[in-house]
Amino acid sequence: MEQYVIKGGIPLEGDVVIAGAKNAALGILAAAIMTDDKCVIENVPYVSDTVVLLRAIEAIGATVKYRDKHTVEICGKGIRGNDGLSVDYDYIRNIRASYYLIGALLGKYKYADVVLPGGCDIGSRPIDLHVKGFEALGARTNIVFGGRIVAEADHLVGKHIYLDTVSVGATINIMLAAALAEGKTTIENAAKEPHIVDVANFLNTMGANIKGAGTDVIRIRGVDRLHGAEYSIIPDQIEAGTFMTMAVATRGNILIKNVIPKHLEAISSKLAEMGATVIEYDDAVRVMADGVLKSTQIKTLPYPGFPTDMQAQMATALGLATGTSIVTESIFENRFRYVSELIRMGAQIRVEGNSAIITGVDHYTGARLSAPDLRAGAALVIAALSADGFSTIEEIQFVQRGYEEFDEKVRSLGGKMEIVSSEREVQKFKLRAG
Ligand code: UD1
Repeated sequence: MEQYVIKGGIPLEGDVVIAGAKNAALGILAAAIMTDDKCVIENVPYVSDTVVLLRAIEAIGATVKYRDKHTVEICGKGIRGNDGLSVDYDYIRNIRASYYLIGALLGKYKYADVVLPGGCDIGSRPIDLHVKGFEALGARTNIVFGGRIVAEADHLVGKHIYLDTVSVGATINIMLAAALAEGKTTIENAAKEPHIVDVANFLNTMGANIKGAGTDVIRIRGVDRLHGAEYSIIPDQIEAGTFMTMAVATRGNILIKNVIPKHLEAISSKLAEMGATVIEYDDAVRVMADGVLKSTQIKTLPYPGFPTDMQAQMATALGLATGTSIVTESIFENRFRYVSELIRMGAQIRVEGNSAIITGVDHYTGARLSAPDLRAGAALVIAALSADGFSTIEEIQFVQRGYEEFDEKVRSLGGKMEIVSSEREVQKFKLRAG
């Protein structure tokens, strides 16, 4: 099995270019099959989540062609519509965003049969709000044998939908289905994440009529059909935040390029509270830190609050700050599984309910680690890069779901990190790294 091997203790320095936003890409790639015309999507991150979703899109009859590593042409014409075809492949069970195919297929064909989503084990992650939204639009839904959800409707008719919980997935999914419903849909208490706006912008480029994305009330006037479009995905806020935090934890100096600084404000302000210097440019941020880091308090919240997808990385950096920090997770209930790994590196962290109480230590020590999920895996990479000595991290397939060429990017910043597949290669790395 592949694993990362890392030698820590080197301040990371240099430039890094951020890929397109994974979570926007997943919604946009699903939306692209809602027309029979060709769509060209640029800045698609080349990570396993997007590759898997595209494979599923191809398997149901759409044409998918990579023009280059980050530009994908999709044509949904060949999808066989409502003939009972189901999206049920072992590999897609593992990704969360398979659920966007429900909204996309239901909108276009008024029929969807999609295996229920998996994704990282960070909590119970129900999709009741998605289902409630589809049913409000007039769909009937059933969970059938094999863990699949079948949603079908004679007509989809616009409705006023109030989301009990702010949900990124439900907001995007309802937006997809409602784009081709009859009449007007209003989503109240909608999520406001940048990728919601990006998916709405893409749908509008395809001819949809969606207003208010980015606020908590989204108004969608259904249209008869969508047409082909060319679109470039926004930069990944979480990949950017991960490198920002890496700069701080390793006391480095990184220029993070191809970002929208506005989307990073919650992260930038917490890093500044920790004593880092964050300089914003038009489409880049520079993050520098040296010396002593200061403790702070963090609570994850829906955008524009502090993102849950950055919780583990920030807690890892705070583990190296003087004083006591409290990190509260308010979105998912099972998102501290990395803490036991950090403790084995010397961290002093106590989890009480949905809070981690962190007493900063002077340094981490390298260890054999295992990534519990995508963002926690990235946090362990940060920990290993800032630790004394060598670390190995197993289960890196989680990290590869969302970070493109993570090891290459780290190496370009002077970090010592490689992917190896045997103990022998670990030993060779250790000899080389000194
Ligand atoms: C998406 C992101 C994930 C991110 C999360 C929060 C994708 C593919 N994944 O996940 O990276 O961590 O947003 O920013 O974009 N909930 C319900 N019922 C539902 C749906 C959600 O109770 O039907 C709850 C969840 O359990 C959670 C909260 O709502 O407590 C927010 O979840 P949601 O925003 O939907 O997360 P995901 O779309 O799964």
